[in-house]
Amino acid sequence: MGWNSWNFFFDKVTDKDIRAAADQLVATGMKDAGYNYINIDDTWEGQRDASGLLHTNSKFPDMKALADYVHSKGLKIGIYSGPGPKTCGGYEGSLGHEEQDAQMYASWGFDYLKYDACSFIPEVMEKQAPHDKAEQMRIMQAAYVKMGKALKATGRPIVYSLCQYGWDAPWEWAPAAGGNLWRSTGDVQPNWDRIAVIGFSQAGLEKYAGPGHWNDPDMLEVGNGNLTLAENRAHFSLWAMLAAPLLAGNDLPNMKPEIKAILTNRDVIAIDQDKLGKQGTRGYAEGEVEVWTRHLAGGGLAVAVFNTADNGRFASHPFHLDLAKLGLHGPQKGKDLWTGKPVTLTNNEPIEMASHDVLLVRIDAPK
Ligand code: GLA
Repeated sequence: MGWNSWNFFFDKVTDKDIRAAADQLVATGMKDAGYNYINIDDTWEGQRDASGLLHTNSKFPDMKALADYVHSKGLKIGIYSGPGPKTCGGYEGSLGHEEQDAQMYASWGFDYLKYDACSFIPEVMEKQAPHDKAEQMRIMQAAYVKMGKALKATGRPIVYSLCQYGWDAPWEWAPAAGGNLWRSTGDVQPNWDRIAVIGFSQAGLEKYAGPGHWNDPDMLEVGNGNLTLAENRAHFSLWAMLAAPLLAGNDLPNMKPEIKAILTNRDVIAIDQDKLGKQGTRGYAEGEVEVWTRHLAGGGLAVAVFNTADNGRFASHPFHLDLAKLGLHGPQKGKDLWTGKPVTLTNNEPIEMASHDVLLVRIDAPK
């Protein structure tokens, strides 16, 4: 869990913004709720000198001092690069300098690296194996293995985040490359359609996730764009069901109370961070209503009902929950994690749901 600069600042991020984000993570209580990484995304890079050493650009005058500052807040800090000659933003990549860069991140005190394919695809994969997709994928995997080894060789524990948008089933090979998380989709955007496409496409990947190695459906857009409160809640709930890395990406110094309430909902965070580490999946779908479950440590079950439709389901035609399809029999006592109130789910229960909203229930003793 943590915060990453990209989804709000994009290429505008500066040293000052990173410090402010670290301050706010502490001041808002997000750190206490579990968010403990501050990750700098793309656009910090400057030029390499004659020895190949990569310097920062003027937005980041002193990375070591910045890392020390973030650490002084009791937080960890992450950085960004890629295997290609250039990053997605057109800044210097790590191609041919993997060991040197890894050593530099370690010497600055970084704890996390997001490694983004981008120009590696046209500049290396497609040039080296123009008509051979399978060979291109082998080349890509080798590049990720290379950086994985370089990070390991630093002797510093550095979380390794693979970002190649889910090409060639990274869940099958990323753990062996040293990956702790791997993007399983293309980029998220702060709109419901994109969030829903990404989130609900994760069904079936649950068997690849577990403690220390996670599917990453991309960072959170909670609090960004024009997402409604229902959409923010549903997005956060879905990511929690997916055991997804929770990397907030909003404007922390100007966070609205209702957004803070979503991002710091301890009950929902507890689903995401559940010790069993078992990613949830689709129980069933009925039209545009999605019903997902996630098994929890201690035998509990989280049930999430999402209305993905642009229109609602109300008393005239509510959604009827079929518990048997979830392997449940009889009334299930639980807690509604968004109202905080006790709730009992009964078979065929009529549920009224606004557009893009969610009902998220934790059942401690499912039957
Ligand atoms: C890619 C990644 C994003 C972000 C940008 C930065 O699009 O998927 O998450 O890191 O590059 O340029």
